[in-house]
Amino acid sequence: MVHADASKFAANITKKETYTQVLEQAETLFDGQRNWLLILVFSNLANAASLIWHAQKSMSYPSNQNNWAGFYVVDPVNEKQLILGPFMGKVACQTIAFGQGVCGKAAQAKETIVVPDVNSFPGHIACDRDTNSEIVVPILLKDKVIGVIDCDSAVANTFDSEDRKYLEKLADLLSLACNW
Ligand code: SME
Repeated sequence: MVHADASKFAANITKKETYTQVLEQAETLFDGQRNWLLILVFSNLANAASLIWHAQKSMSYPSNQNNWAGFYVVDPVNEKQLILGPFMGKVACQTIAFGQGVCGKAAQAKETIVVPDVNSFPGHIACDRDTNSEIVVPILLKDKVIGVIDCDSAVANTFDSEDRKYLEKLADLLSLACNW
């Protein structure tokens, strides 16, 4: 299989089946690719962003209205700040302080935040006016936040308990798969 085939997701399968394929492809892609941070090439995160993006695009409405999928990682120079990592979608803000926006709040609380309507979330950072809902999942290593997965959608109420469950599994996989 060529690499690009990893991001082919059938349209007629369930969300569970699609995310299961994400986790399987992620494990294969991350194999032997541990040193991403040392060489400042976020290769596992870049491939994970691609998998999430194409997986959600292949799902039924409203999941296929996703408009951003990617990562913010803890800034090694200022550990109370997140910096933009690999992503799919439009240009986004580059730094987010802990406690700010959905990403900074999830990083600070070390807990997933599902936002059904970003317009009702105090402090939401609007990188894109088209975004209406969002999920942010922290990536933890030994109880320390090392980054977050962030997914946005143009439609309200896009992300449910299934998105949460499988993105949390992916966060666990990334925590184990990389030398953070
Ligand atoms: N909305 C996020 C900012 C990042 S963008 O969505 C890519 C937040 O409030 O933290």
